[in-house]
Amino acid sequence: MNPNNCLVIAHRGASTYAPENTFAAFDLALDMGARHFELDVQLSGDNHLVVIHDDKVNRTTDGNGEVSALTLRELQSLDAGAWFGAKFAGERIPTLESLLDRYRGRAHLHVEIKGKTQGLSERTVDMIRRRGWAQNVTMTSFQIDKLEALRAHAPELPAGWLLREIDDAVIMRAQSLGLTQLCPKADATTPGLVAKLRNAGFNVRAWGVANEELMLRMVDAGVDGMTVNFPDKLIGLLRERTKEKN
Ligand code: G3P
Ligand code: CA
Repeated sequence: MNPNNCLVIAHRGASTYAPENTFAAFDLALDMGARHFELDVQLSGDNHLVVIHDDKVNRTTDGNGEVSALTLRELQSLDAGAWFGAKFAGERIPTLESLLDRYRGRAHLHVEIKGKTQGLSERTVDMIRRRGWAQNVTMTSFQIDKLEALRAHAPELPAGWLLREIDDAVIMRAQSLGLTQLCPKADATTPGLVAKLRNAGFNVRAWGVANEELMLRMVDAGVDGMTVNFPDKLIGLLRERTKEKN
């Protein structure tokens, strides 16, 4: 494959080096040269779209409790950086809106719909459209009901299904839904699977790239892109590959 075609998607930002899903992590990803970000969206208790991975704030802030039980004001009073390192103290949980405004024109977003909230797909898409981002997003989810809602509400947006296992039934379901992308877990991604999914009409984007060895395997398998916590390493590898090719 042409290594230039492998998208470097900073997973929750450059999250090896900065607290995930914060401006610090996304700014750093940009500084490293990544132009694609992956991020997770959930709904606060008072119906604001916020960028956070877990259902609870406990792991990534100094607070406790379910995201869906806290107001935006409560969520934004929490420190989302100090847990990672003193120099990140004061980082906040971003709203989706503030993130869209901050990075307009500077990145393509791979937006993962998380959580159990009904209507989250539609609300997220409405915000993306309102803030003028529709040309620069790929929508993703592990949850098929969220993807069904996405396809019904926004058939024009590319959408990918995150999966741990991909079999023929998954491929058929994804085709019938009109999904553009399948996202297999890296440790289950082989060159044969990549070829099969491409032949079935999908863009193939891996996730769960836990280390550099898996990252290398994904490049060799010919994936169209992958989420990585260490975008600098993948950018370096792809540069090396390009040099070798020329
Ligand atoms: O690239 C998608 C990846 O983010 C899925 O897993 O748990 O990090 O949301 P998770
Ligand atoms: Ca995610």
